[in-house]
Amino acid sequence: MSGAVSAPWAALPTVGVPTAVVDLDTFDNNAAALLRRAGGTPIRVASKSVRVRSLVERVLAMPGYAGVLGYSVAEAIWLVRSGIDDVVVAYPSVDDEAVRTIAADEQLAAAITFMVDLPEHVDWLAARHAGHALRVAIDVDCSLRLGPVSLGAHRSSVNDAGGAGRLAERIAGRPGLLLVGMMFYEAQVAGVPDAKPGMRVVKRLSNDQLHRYRSKIRAAVEAHAALEFVNGGGTGSLHTTRLDPAITELAAGSGLFAPTSFDGFDDLGVEPAAWFVSPVTRKPSAEVVVTFAGGYSASGASGRSRLPKPVYPEGLSYFGQEGAGEVQSPLHGKAARTLGLGDPVWFRHAKAGEMCERFDEVVLLEGGRVRGKTPTYRGEGHNFG
Ligand SMILES: Cc1ncc(COP(=O)(O)O)c(C=O)c1O
Repeated sequence: MSGAVSAPWAALPTVGVPTAVVDLDTFDNNAAALLRRAGGTPIRVASKSVRVRSLVERVLAMPGYAGVLGYSVAEAIWLVRSGIDDVVVAYPSVDDEAVRTIAADEQLAAAITFMVDLPEHVDWLAARHAGHALRVAIDVDCSLRLGPVSLGAHRSSVNDAGGAGRLAERIAGRPGLLLVGMMFYEAQVAGVPDAKPGMRVVKRLSNDQLHRYRSKIRAAVEAHAALEFVNGGGTGSLHTTRLDPAITELAAGSGLFAPTSFDGFDDLGVEPAAWFVSPVTRKPSAEVVVTFAGGYSASGASGRSRLPKPVYPEGLSYFGQEGAGEVQSPLHGKAARTLGLGDPVWFRHAKAGEMCERFDEVVLLEGGRVRGKTPTYRGEGHNFG
């Protein structure tokens, strides 16, 4: 594992088209930093936050990482067929064709776990059972509940021991389904920066509440099945989620790339490892440059924080009404004086894996130099959503 890494800017003196870049030294350092925060609890790799198969495999090769937390059933099939033997699909699916493919294949059925939170999910999966047991896990809502107010991700319908127990009983009663796990993802702790107003309090209250009820919910489920895993957390909560004995494994992905949405967390210990670099194609005035494309807004509630952030050369800003453009992005600032046609401007994306949906390949840096390229999911011909 390498130590300090030098700035990557010199590695690509010029680019002709927008180019995605990952610095492997920083990526590896980040992977190690996440393990330190996990304090010995294994980490399942959140693949949506990477979307580059070779990089998912690179992390899985490090001791301390085990299994993939996937985002689509079709993705899980592809990953298992390419050699990964443990994929928990973190989100319920109604992809009939993909689920039937798994149900008909012993190897796929043994390697892939489906997520459910509704009785309808259970019945729907049970109806597709075709000889090989389908592995199932229950997703438990981890919102902070303060009286009538609920602060969280508004995903799962299971939010107490009674509901979890009833769902577990239903799964256990369905021939062909095997209840193997649970997932608790506390989005408001793991994915929202501490620096956001009020968040330190929200996180403290959430963690207190979760520590009180996670083990009770787990026990209600274990009354119906012997569980293989209880997953929890994300990049921003490894150090707190791991303290709960109800948790057997953690999940993380974003911290490997450290996109801008993970700035503002306390002591995360990760550094930016992924960028896209776009060439200057126009220079309308001394302090304005226009780079090609770049309007790669991230998902989530829209706003400036979802835009890519120009980071090198330092001091470039978007124009308010223009933002990051569909085919060109005008930027202004004194730093534009140093830039001419073809010169690279480096941007950080707001989210981790989403950047890779814009590119077929990623340029890999090591020791401050270009070491090669690797395809993204998209470059391998896959768009899983
Ligand atoms: C279910 C679940 N677990 C874990 C994570 C954490 O992933 P990351 O570390 O990329 O934030 C996410 C992210 O959204 C998630 O949806």
